[in-house]
Amino acid sequence: MSHIKLLVTGGSSQVGSALCARAVSAGINAVWFDDNILDSLTLKSIKAAIASHQPDYVINTVSYSVVDLAQDNPEKSHTYNHDVALLLAQACHSLNVPLVHLSTDYVFDGAQRSPYKEEAYTAPLNRFGEAKLAAEQAIKQYCPEHIIVRVGWIFSAQGHNFVLRTLRQLQEHHHVKAVSDQHGCPTYANDVARVLIAIIQQLDCGISVWGTYHYSGAEITTWKGFAEAILAAAKKHGVTQAENIDAVSSLEWPAKAPRPAYSVLDCSKILSTFGIRQRPWRSGLVKVIDQVFQTTQ
Ligand SMILES: NC(=O)c1ccc[n+]([C@@H]2O[C@H](COP(=O)([O-])OP(=O)(O)OC[C@H]3O[C@@H](n4cnc5c(N)ncnc54)[C@H](OP(=O)(O)O)[C@@H]3O)[C@@H](O)[C@H]2O)c1
Repeated sequence: MSHIKLLVTGGSSQVGSALCARAVSAGINAVWFDDNILDSLTLKSIKAAIASHQPDYVINTVSYSVVDLAQDNPEKSHTYNHDVALLLAQACHSLNVPLVHLSTDYVFDGAQRSPYKEEAYTAPLNRFGEAKLAAEQAIKQYCPEHIIVRVGWIFSAQGHNFVLRTLRQLQEHHHVKAVSDQHGCPTYANDVARVLIAIIQQLDCGISVWGTYHYSGAEITTWKGFAEAILAAAKKHGVTQAENIDAVSSLEWPAKAPRPAYSVLDCSKILSTFGIRQRPWRSGLVKVIDQVFQTTQ
């Protein structure tokens, strides 16, 4: 058993649950932050809650991350995507505990046609991205000992995500549509957990590499390409009605929040700093789909 103790907010999130499970197998002690404390949103209560656990690191995975809901509820998005991060940053700094935080590829506007590096110009197109960018800025301002990992298109066998939504549609409909002009990289929640543990283990060796990093699954695709991979994996379980995925453009798709046409992250800095390589999202997808059908059989 390692001596490292993690305090994880958003323990029920896709990443938070994967992280707590993975920490156990890595011999790391991970404890849940009582997310009810976030309802009061006072620095005093958050600081007291952190202090009571005496963690070596706080990992924040709390987020109001359904992008279209955030567009309709910008205040709620700001509260859970920004205010929580701001208070955690202030509390962590005053307690001398480093903060590890997850951010998003949606801080970019998608105008680029090559993978975004960490220092690339940020200009979010939607409320979710705006609040997440404001959180990054607050963390940089208030908690110098931080790691921000921007990720994109997270999926797992639980929660709200594109894989589970698409699977339901494939089972219920003969025709399923997906957007074919937005490019990005799906990311398996368990791989994000693996990345966070690897970072923590190296920070614990005393290396001082605070800052912002990018991580996503390997292989650029579109939502249509991702849906086709979901269909192929689901077909093996013989439960799909749909035979193909129909392409639609962003203009034809009735989404509340605009999304970048291109949000591919350049993940070379996390490789050169921590030796962390991107894993193919396709292998994670197969695991998730097998898991979904094992639990529903
Ligand atoms: N999902 C994506 O595709 C995606 C893409 C880019 C970046 N990210 C970032 O990656 C991180 C992890 O994402 P995820 O998909 O794993 O998150 P998620 O599954 O959407 O979970 C969000 C977490 O925040 C908690 N939360 C939300 N509102 C709360 C409130 N009012 N009080 C207390 N807790 C609250 C949720 O608790 P309940 O379950 O109790 O509601 C849940 O534990 C987040 O920072 C997210 O912004 C996600």
